[in-house]
Formats: sequence, structure tokens, C-alpha cells
Amino acid sequence: MVAIGLVVGLIATLVAVLIDWLPASASVQMNRITDLYWLATIICIVVFSVVMAVILYSVWKFRVQPDDLSDGPPIHGNTTLEIVWTVIPALLVVLIGVVSAVVLSKNSDAGTNPLNVHVYAQQFAWRFEYPDGKVLSSELVLPVDRTVKLTMESADVIHSFWIPQMAQKQDVVPGIVTTLVITPTKTGRFTLVCTELCGLGHATMRAPVRVLRPAEFAEWKDDHRIGAGGGGSEKPDGKAVFAANGCGGCHAFKPAGSDGEVGPSLDGLTDPEQVRQSIVDPNAEITAGYQGGVMPGTFAKTLSPEEIDALVQYLTGKSS
Ligand code: CUA
Repeated sequence: MVAIGLVVGLIATLVAVLIDWLPASASVQMNRITDLYWLATIICIVVFSVVMAVILYSVWKFRVQPDDLSDGPPIHGNTTLEIVWTVIPALLVVLIGVVSAVVLSKNSDAGTNPLNVHVYAQQFAWRFEYPDGKVLSSELVLPVDRTVKLTMESADVIHSFWIPQMAQKQDVVPGIVTTLVITPTKTGRFTLVCTELCGLGHATMRAPVRVLRPAEFAEWKDDHRIGAGGGGSEKPDGKAVFAANGCGGCHAFKPAGSDGEVGPSLDGLTDPEQVRQSIVDPNAEITAGYQGGVMPGTFAKTLSPEEIDALVQYLTGKSS
């Protein structure tokens, strides 16, 4: 019976392992999580198959005959059997626990020289700051094969950081700083999604992720350095402010190529004062057909007066 169970378990394991259930891994951390996931899954399949084989065989073999009305033999337990079916599962659970602890510890180890990136989450956009180069971006750009330590903060409610091909999820919680370590193994484009229901625009809270070769990454960072070549006194660019703050995630605006539908379209705005008010105090006046309390009221604090000026100018074509 046990042999039948093991054979069935082996076949089921092959079926489980040979089908591509999970997205192709693109990080060292996901490789470890995938290995752990399959270890636990295979243990479950084999134990299930053995138990079911014994049960089904017993149901078929020891079924009472229709005319048999006698009592069954008295059974007072079997110590050997009880030890076996206690010790084996205990060892398996301890094994899964130990391997999980090792994976968790390795996955949160950023090593001695990680690339530090700050992640800011707010309804309904992600922003990334590279402190060493003073780069602000609405796209997460990472170099391949380098360990990155993300330090995350939220401006309003709980969000959650998840790149499916890199497996890990980390809550971004207002008032505390959380961290996540990623070592990308593949270049290419991925998508960061918010995986915590955070309001009306939750489903649109996504950000592009690009993993580049180290040289390309250095070039990208140089190109996006704030005030590059201007000694830091350069006037902010409205288009860059719009992109870096994720405005396009919720609003359609043709010049920026955005088509968000959470908030009203920003095409054809002409009144600089009204636009300024909508940015710094979004609930003062709500466009008909839209709901109040959706747009974050934090821009008056997170943007400098110059950045707000630049944004107003970018949206209306006029300065106020
Ligand atoms: Cu942020 Cu869902």
C-alpha cells in the first residue's frame, strides 16, 4: 500500500513540477522561494498519496460483507505505528521550518555594499529616489546581478510592494520604514504592482520596472540626475515633476501620453489658479462625476513651490 502511495506520489510530483505554474524567476530571492515552495509541495503530495492509498485500499479490502453482523476484533492501538506516523510528520515539519528560516534570513541579507533605493508610496503612485545620485523617478530602474536594498515609506495608507517575477511582497506602512532586498538576475521589463487594497485607484497603482546591465544603469542614473550640469540651481521641469509624482497613474494628459481614469482628464485646463488649488488642496472643489478624498492632499508638503509652479505651467501653458 505504501509502495503504491509512493509511486502515485512520484507521478503526481512529476506532473506538478513539470507544469509551469509560477512566473519565470528574475531574482536570486525568488529562486530560493521557488525551491522552498516546491520542497513543501512535494512533501505534501507524497504524504497525501501514501495516506490516500492506505485508506482506499482499506475501504476496498476490509469492507464489511452485507451478511456479516458480527463485531469487529477489539484493537488496543499499535505503538510502533503511532510512533512512525508521529515522528515522520514531525521531522518533515521541522525540515520545512528550518529551510524557511534559512531562506528568510538569506533573503533579508543585503550584504555589505547594496545599492540603496528609497521607495515612496502614496495613493496611487510609486516614486523612487536614488540617494547617492539624487535621482527621482516614477520608474524603478535596477542594475542586473547587484543586490538592492529598498527602503520603503508611505505618505498615506498601507500599500504593498510586489514584482511577481521577483516573488517577494512587502507592506509599505505609514509611520514605519520597511525594507526589501532584491538581486535581479535577468535584464528586461517587469511591472511593480500594489497588492494591498488602498483606495479607489488601487488597481491602477503600478509602476514600470526595468533591469539594465551595469553600464546602462550608470548611464541612466547620470541622465536622470536632478539638476545635472546646472549646479542644482536649475528650474524644475514641469514634465519631470508630472512623471516623478505619478500624476499620469490617475489622470489623462495628452502631452504626457497618460490615460489614467481615476481622476478627471487634465487636457484643456486654462486657469492656473484653479489648477494650483487642485494640486495643493484637492478636496476644495471636486469635478462633477468624481469622488472626493481620492487625490492625495500631501503635494503642498512634498513638492517645493518651484515644482508646483512648474507643474501648473506644464498643465495650463501659463504661469500664475
Ligand atoms: Cu496602493 Cu493598492
